[in-house]
Amino acid sequence: MNYITFNEKTKVFTLATQKSMYQMQVGAHNTLLHLYYGANVGDTEITYRIIPLDRGYSGNPEEAGKDRTFSMDVLPQEYSGYGNGDYRINGMELQHEDGSDTVDLRYESYDIVPGKYSLQGMPAMFGSEEEAQTLDVTLSDRLSGLKVHLLYGVFPEKDIITRAVRFENRGTGVVTLKRAMSVQLDYLNRHMDFMHFFGRHTMERLMERLPLHHGIQSFESKRGNSSHQHNPFVILCDRSTSEVLGDCFGFGLIYSGNFRCEIERDQYNQTRLVMGIHPYHFAFRLEPGDVFETPEVVMAYSRKGFGKLSNILHDAYRTNLIRSKYVTSPRPILVNNWEATYFDFNEQKLLDIAVAAKDLGLDMFVLDDGWFGKRDSDNSGLGDWYVNTDKIRGGLPKLVKQINDMGLKFGLWVEPEMISEDSDLYREHPDWCFRIPGRGVVRSRNQLNLDITRKEVRDHIMDSIFKVMDSANVEYIKWDMNRSVANVYSNALPPERQGEVFHRYVLALYDMQERLVQRYPDLLFENCCGGGGRFDAGMLYYSPQIWCSDNTDAIERLMIQYGTSFGYPISAVGSHVSACPNHQTGRTTPLATRGVVASAGTFGFELNLAELTERDKTMIRQMIRDYKKEEHLVQTGDYFRLVDPFRNQEYVVWEIVSKDQAEVLVKGVILRSECNPRIHLIYLRGLDARAKYREQETGRVYTGAALMNAGIPLPVVSGDYQPFVCHFNRIDD
Ligand code: GLA
Repeated sequence: MNYITFNEKTKVFTLATQKSMYQMQVGAHNTLLHLYYGANVGDTEITYRIIPLDRGYSGNPEEAGKDRTFSMDVLPQEYSGYGNGDYRINGMELQHEDGSDTVDLRYESYDIVPGKYSLQGMPAMFGSEEEAQTLDVTLSDRLSGLKVHLLYGVFPEKDIITRAVRFENRGTGVVTLKRAMSVQLDYLNRHMDFMHFFGRHTMERLMERLPLHHGIQSFESKRGNSSHQHNPFVILCDRSTSEVLGDCFGFGLIYSGNFRCEIERDQYNQTRLVMGIHPYHFAFRLEPGDVFETPEVVMAYSRKGFGKLSNILHDAYRTNLIRSKYVTSPRPILVNNWEATYFDFNEQKLLDIAVAAKDLGLDMFVLDDGWFGKRDSDNSGLGDWYVNTDKIRGGLPKLVKQINDMGLKFGLWVEPEMISEDSDLYREHPDWCFRIPGRGVVRSRNQLNLDITRKEVRDHIMDSIFKVMDSANVEYIKWDMNRSVANVYSNALPPERQGEVFHRYVLALYDMQERLVQRYPDLLFENCCGGGGRFDAGMLYYSPQIWCSDNTDAIERLMIQYGTSFGYPISAVGSHVSACPNHQTGRTTPLATRGVVASAGTFGFELNLAELTERDKTMIRQMIRDYKKEEHLVQTGDYFRLVDPFRNQEYVVWEIVSKDQAEVLVKGVILRSECNPRIHLIYLRGLDARAKYREQETGRVYTGAALMNAGIPLPVVSGDYQPFVCHFNRIDD
């Protein structure tokens, strides 16, 4: 079946998924006009909403002659450049050899191909010929010979449309791309809000919803990583849209570096969204024959609110973006020694934790920072990827064998993109870091960024890490990045190519991670960036999970994990039980509560298991048994945010429902106990209304309709931060 069609008569392209539809039209003078994105409207072409009018101060292209109603400044356009009379934010900007910067994109041709396009050296959704189709619409700027391929991937069953742009210099002069956004999308007169996810180190992806105002609003990262401060994901929605009702559109950028999302509400209340690589410090030179591809944007539409939008994105990422075999197979429950020991450990301390881990039923021991070079603090050693045998006496192979012999897997932390000035690597290659000639550097955590855009640097780092991995049975890697990128200048590039360094850095990172996953296809790989500073869809192409935040406090995690769940599957959220008082906040919460919060992700531990009380050990054994029973729901179920922690200061509750609606897990935290308490009701979602469900804990039977419409009361608790868990199973007749 064709999900992408072109009507030769009306010149309308229609891209259809089960529930959504996207249309564009080749208009007068071969301009490509955007017509519609929203609910699937069947075979109606939405060509009737554009009404030509003579608009003052909105110019007309030469070919329009005396027709003053045809203006690029007002028409909804599929992808536009500066200089053709459109004064709104545009998808692209460039400079020609003669210094001029006008680009006038006109429709040339199209191609529809089975399967999903891929991007050279960059992550992107994948799809077989049965799952996806690709549309490639070619626009061209006649004078310069630049071809602009608008790429669309349509996943009908997933309700997903992806976009990316491929630029090809077919002219005779050099073209320098100064802005090359992955998506440009126009909406006609409509009152919308936007939702974005901002934060800071240890408090990432906090949700903020704001009405769109006239003018441009934007959020971005110029830090080289997608950042703790802003996430490359945005939702546009109607003013009335809620978790369960209303139109909303999600845009996830599959990219891990500088990005910018700009949304402009114009003089006629039209809205234009552009998203892609940040134009700051971006100037990519295309010699004749050169090609440049933008990262991909994943677009999802829901008319049933944010809950459904998240379900669509979660499923799409799990089935058509994450490549790891661990995406649906059980992941080892691990203990990470970071918060247990920090840098202060020797092999015996590690073995003690491993023995306790095995005794409690865990599957893996992960050795975090501090095992290599001269790394007794975070001031030294980065770049020296060989084992510190003063700390790990007997070497790594021996330690790993001892751990494997206990019946545990072994994992290791690395930070490949960095160099400490106090390291053998720096002493040998002081020119391998980013440094602008003649200027001082900006240090952060006392470390510098390696210039991984240079192949010899990547080769050296990856070869030394591979040597360590090959020396012992390493079955998990945590790849960290503990500072933003600065001092951006590559010794290996001429001055006119320095504007390529930020993007080349991201391509280099992808090259390194691709080498890792190709060489060790069974590796469990977790990305990390001071917690969640690179929690983006680009990273998910390489690793099925990302350490969500360095903040392991169960109560703060409620907000972090809530925000994260809008754009990313909870099965990607690295989440651990840590010690109390919590190391980041000093807060004390019950162990059971920490377990409940950590179980809404990839479950693990981050504390000294060798120092637990017998009572805690019993509880942890039970937690592990429970998680193993529930893990398939975390990995494949539909996730529902039942309570917004930013609005409700009393309790936070979420729900996971199996795809067949037979298993239901409701969990949460009651934040405050009350004297003379009120009864709080929780209304479930996503159940089969007519089916009957039995609550495991009480044996009570309810209809799905009762659970969704009448709700269930939260228990009355004594003490703050109390956990809440209940399970329901459908009773099949
Ligand atoms: C980052 C990570 C932590 C830990 C430390 C080690 O902050 O997010 O989990 O690995 O680095 O230095």
